[in-house]
Amino acid sequence: MKILAIETSCDETACSVVENGTKVLTNTIASQVDIHAKTGGVVPEVAAREHVLKMLPVLDQCLEDCACNWDDIDALAITKGPGLVSSLIIGTETASVISYVKNKPLIPVQHIVGHLYSNWLGIEDEIQFPVLILTVSGGHNELVLMRDHFDFEVLGETRDDASGEAFDKVARMLGLGYPGGPAISKLAESGDKTRFPLPRVMLEKDSLDFSFSGLKTAVLTLIKKNEGNIDEQFKADMAASFQEAVIEVLGDKLFRAFKKYPEIKELHLAGGVSANTRLREYIKENLPEGAVFRHPQSIRYCTDNAAMIACAAYFQYQKDPSKYKAKTNVIPSTSFSISSS
Ligand code: KG4
Ligand code: ZN
Repeated sequence: MKILAIETSCDETACSVVENGTKVLTNTIASQVDIHAKTGGVVPEVAAREHVLKMLPVLDQCLEDCACNWDDIDALAITKGPGLVSSLIIGTETASVISYVKNKPLIPVQHIVGHLYSNWLGIEDEIQFPVLILTVSGGHNELVLMRDHFDFEVLGETRDDASGEAFDKVARMLGLGYPGGPAISKLAESGDKTRFPLPRVMLEKDSLDFSFSGLKTAVLTLIKKNEGNIDEQFKADMAASFQEAVIEVLGDKLFRAFKKYPEIKELHLAGGVSANTRLREYIKENLPEGAVFRHPQSIRYCTDNAAMIACAAYFQYQKDPSKYKAKTNVIPSTSFSISSS
């Protein structure tokens, strides 16, 4: 079964065709990073206007890249939220119209569920349940126990900022570019991660929740204290110290959850922050004996993409195919229930 997915929840216009949930035939993404770098973050109206311009060219490119035509596509999938409403609507309305005109079933997928499925992309072996997934992004930060397909339990989540958001904000404080995660991780390579002893907030003894706002404040306090003396080495050492503080908390919470649920067979990392090589390294270095660890096979499956939406849609469809039909009308605003959170 070939599913064509569209994802426009934030600042990437993305389309992908995935066969039977795991075989990625194409993963086409038009990034808006250069536009949002000028403003140091995503301006929703600007992102939405870019989606309008890019949506149809990206769709055409996607079909061309996998040498498919509409007759080859069995169903459509679309990110229904959470995300920026003005961005989501471009994707959902496009998918609705195609579903109606081409008479294809339409599968709405929750964005975070898409990230949870990113480790299925490109694999040839079988993932063994139960799986514990640490999904870490700019917009969310969760530990999820997945006992089977579409059987999720959220074990922990952030009480304030998501880790990706903390990366972005600290990068801004240090005058680095947008997005902050890649900028901090690059600069951290030349920094001393032990120079600034920043807090590792583990919360209560048994808690699987996260909190990163105190760490952010600690970085800001040190920056203010050193005003006038901030050179390149200070920035690199701060990037490395901050990164290590985030990573230790993320990794140790993953291990804490694994200890609590000994039936877990695999540990997965997902979301934009899972692209961080030091995070992957830390988890591998401290991995409990016998644990299977996976992260997305490509960096392009970590950050927002449509392949993960097509993958999740495939398993969602398998649960009950009768639930998904082609659209019979395309009246805007009644055709979808979009959620921003
Ligand atoms: O999953 P994603 O593309 O969008 C959301 O759903 O939020 O994640 C984007 C986030 C940003 O906060 C970005 O700074 C972070 O992922 N990120 C990273 C790295 N690459 C992207 N954080 C740390 N290290 C990276 N290499
Ligand atoms: Zn995302």
